[in-house]
Amino acid sequence: MRVIVTGGSGFIGSALCRHLVRERGASVLNIDALTYAAAPGTLADIEARPEYRFAKGDIRDAAAMMRLVADFKPTAICNVAAESHVDRSISGPKAFLETNITGVFAMLEAARSYWDGLSEPARSAFRFVQVSTDEVFGTAAAGTRFTEETPYDPSSPYSASKAAGDHLVRAWGRTYGLPVVLTNCSNNYGPYQFPEKFIPLALLSALHAGEIPVYGDGQNVRDWLFVDDHARGIADAMAKGVPGESYLFGGNAERRNIEVAHAICDALDAVHRPNEPRRNLIRHVTDRPGHDRRYAVDFSKAERELGWTPSVSFEDGLARTIAWYSENAWWWQPLQTRYDGRRIGLLKTS
Ligand code: NAD
Ligand code: TYD
Repeated sequence: MRVIVTGGSGFIGSALCRHLVRERGASVLNIDALTYAAAPGTLADIEARPEYRFAKGDIRDAAAMMRLVADFKPTAICNVAAESHVDRSISGPKAFLETNITGVFAMLEAARSYWDGLSEPARSAFRFVQVSTDEVFGTAAAGTRFTEETPYDPSSPYSASKAAGDHLVRAWGRTYGLPVVLTNCSNNYGPYQFPEKFIPLALLSALHAGEIPVYGDGQNVRDWLFVDDHARGIADAMAKGVPGESYLFGGNAERRNIEVAHAICDALDAVHRPNEPRRNLIRHVTDRPGHDRRYAVDFSKAERELGWTPSVSFEDGLARTIAWYSENAWWWQPLQTRYDGRRIGLLKTS
């Protein structure tokens, strides 16, 4: 198995590289542009292994992607690279359209050109896996959950750009016959997540007695999945997914944002309780424009057809995440020069 992982220096891509090298015996080429979101040291634990290679490259660079794919001769490409933060997409949507749409186009063309030259059985065995998000579906009405049949209805520049990229992937499957598989996953959390996302941001604030910003009334619901479960799901979709199909992954862990903030505060208080309970650090702040109210995922197709199921409960995963950030300041402290925790993504009128 020879797998190209784009965006392998980011949060989910790095978990996927680790999983493929350690658990699946794969040779991995990580292609990453090393944007602000790629933190030094994220892959320290597999960097020295002979099965792992890195190439600095931008997925928008069509010629470079053609060359890298042709040279590495992959059995699969997992396209994980993306601009990934909703708040940044509100402040500056351009980079999202460029990487999440034009970049997907360049990867598809590089894959197609290489795949066209393969002969059977390598041609049928090849897979292009597009790693996407449940946010392409927009808000889930109370009592409903997203399925693979739910129509796309994105709300943010981020989710709209991911939806556009997914449409390209599907079209390349139908028109050119490229064996594509799509995955749509719910919110991830765990080690190595850039501290602009809610869980690491809230947890580092709570650790250091900083204010914990909760958008709006805090009643927005997300379905949280531990990142290693997602990495395993992507590898399962790559190995067992049917071309043209998509697979949803979720954690069976719907939580309101305020509940997540409380859980983080209470878990830290249980270890060391300062004078005041950490819940007092929570501040309700101006809501995010276009803020989806609820995400909820029915992942029964992945259970049935891939044999995938989440293995880490939210309580266990959160405890592991809190312990990891508490013990690994070497990783997140230098990132504070890239992002200082200030609010992003508000409109001038907010
Ligand atoms: P991340 O921001 O942590 O990492 C993205 C990585 O992609 C970084 O290493 C960055 O350097 C790289 N990258 C960005 N633009 C690039 C470009 N033009 N060329 C090459 N590399 C580039 O993101 P993440 O949270 O790991 O998300 C990865 C993927 O998973 C995204 O496609 C996202 O839509 C999807 N996803 C994320 C979540 C989540 O909760 N984080 C949930 C479901 C799906
Ligand atoms: P986030 O981690 O940005 O992921 P996404 O927007 O992709 O779901 O946010 C998760 C939820 O937490 C979302 O409902 C927005 C909310 N949120 C806050 O309440 N405060 C914050 O500081 C951030 C970053 C997010």
